[in-house]
Amino acid sequence: MKILIDRDRIEERVRELGKEITVDYKDKYPVFVGILKGAFIFLADLVRNVNLEAEFDFVVVSLYKGKKSPGMIILEREVLTDLSSRDVIIVDEILDTGKTLEFLINHIKEKGARSIKTCILLSKKKKRKVSIKTDYVGFEIEDKFVVGYGLDYNQRYRNLPFVGLLDGKD
Ligand code: IMP
Ligand code: MG
Repeated sequence: MKILIDRDRIEERVRELGKEITVDYKDKYPVFVGILKGAFIFLADLVRNVNLEAEFDFVVVSLYKGKKSPGMIILEREVLTDLSSRDVIIVDEILDTGKTLEFLINHIKEKGARSIKTCILLSKKKKRKVSIKTDYVGFEIEDKFVVGYGLDYNQRYRNLPFVGLLDGKD
């Protein structure tokens, strides 16, 4: 396994993102919505660097793999917080084609949120198929398959404390 972004760089960047959010949402009471499973580590580290009162919720989104509608996104766990008139920050670990986030932004809009921003640890710009407004981005990376810090390959490697390149992938 090759390390792409080590623990110290992640920690430093996550601290900066937390500070930015703290400034931008001063006197507000945002709701952080994490996309499981991948965002669990990033969200936990991020919000400990956010000096605001806030609420937290999680969704589970998956890509439908059956034959009928390939590429369709399924919401497996719904947001339980009432989001009407709330300031929502969606947190995800990686933005690839953008389809997951596009789906979730629309879903949260329908719930009547007052504002929606996105906070993403890693962004692969080259792969984007839909245009997504990203507000807070940790790192732009090349189009390589990465694992660790929440990201998996067949459900493994999520607990690595760094972002690594898996040998033999890509
Ligand atoms: P999108 O809808 O294509 O943006 O999909 C994003 C989702 O695909 C992420 O939330 C990840 O779960 C997964 N994904 C995309 N790239 C990678 C990667 O390099 N490693 C692990 N998972 C990835
Ligand atoms: Mg994900």
